Amino acid sequence: MGMLDGKVAIVTGAGHGIGRGHSMELAKHGAKVIVNDLGGSERGEGEGRDADQTVDLVKARGGEASANYGDVSDHEQCGEMVQQAIDTYGRLDIVVNNAGIVRDAAIWNMPVEDFDKVLAVHLRGTWSTSHHAATYFRAQAKAGNRINGRIINTTSGAGLTGNFGQTSYATAKAAIVGLTLTLAQELASSGVTCNCVGPSGLTRITATMPGMPDSFEPDEIGDDEFHPMDPANSSPLVAWLASDEAGYVNGQVIRSLDDRLIWMQGWREKKTISNDEKKWDATKLGARLGGEVFGLQPTGLKFEQA
Ligand SMILES: NC(=O)c1ccc[n+]([C@@H]2O[C@H](COP(=O)([O-])OP(=O)(O)OC[C@H]3O[C@@H](n4cnc5c(N)ncnc54)[C@H](O)[C@@H]3O)[C@@H](O)[C@H]2O)c1
Repeated sequence: MGMLDGKVAIVTGAGHGIGRGHSMELAKHGAKVIVNDLGGSERGEGEGRDADQTVDLVKARGGEASANYGDVSDHEQCGEMVQQAIDTYGRLDIVVNNAGIVRDAAIWNMPVEDFDKVLAVHLRGTWSTSHHAATYFRAQAKAGNRINGRIINTTSGAGLTGNFGQTSYATAKAAIVGLTLTLAQELASSGVTCNCVGPSGLTRITATMPGMPDSFEPDEIGDDEFHPMDPANSSPLVAWLASDEAGYVNGQVIRSLDDRLIWMQGWREKKTISNDEKKWDATKLGARLGGEVFGLQPTGLKFEQA
């Protein structure tokens, strides 16, 4: 018995890298997988049948999969992808929003078209696929056919802590966390969870970054032998989050780095200051911030680092 027997999954951007690893792992545990990929370059230029190779690999290992060549930045095509899962396999249980591109440059060198395109693929793509899946999950729940729906999104260290040259990518990846936290609230009553994974691994995307090694060999992704930079290292976590057993895990952000899984904690209160005079005065406010919030020592009229 596989942990995901009878389940149907969509993995977006699954023609390469991390998405390929997720598809193979989900199929290994019994899920039937719609392998989505628009194809094209890591910058999001061109298109191709990149999904086919992942489908072939899943099938070669005894799993079931079908290709979808849709563009996740196209809202209608995301709807068609959800419909393809239902038409092909009769249902949908799991959505892994993984598709992504990079167009890195410092903000002063980044064309606005590149900013828009990166947000369209990562953020709008995650929203659109989730929108169509959520509509289906809710309709099923209302009809008395409750599905343990699972939406698993993809963030990144850049989105959680920022990264030079990645204003578009980091913005999208941070926003995906906000989207995850909100979907976790909106869909809980329908029996659906939404979590976010921050994967890692040598892929076409990391290969574009200065000083990074080449991407992992496609046929070595998810190899039995452990490699700290295998793009499939987060895939067992994704498979478990997709399972019925994981129903109590909702709205979580979990990073995967080599063999470690790191549960992240978001914005927490650092310090609160209140004001006896109620209405704040900018000058007095500044005098209190340096000492009370930032712990600086007063020297003359100014606060300076001790
Ligand atoms: N590699 C890392 O270390 C790392 C770290 C953190 C997050 N991520 C995230 O993991 C995800 C997968 O990235 P990867 O590193 O495997 O890169 P990758 O280039 O190997 O995979 C991304 C896939 O998305 C596909 N894609 C791009 N635009 C698409 C579109 N509009 N519609 C459908 N598919 C599209 C690409 O064709 C590609 O196959 C991305 O969301 C990325 O931001 C990667």
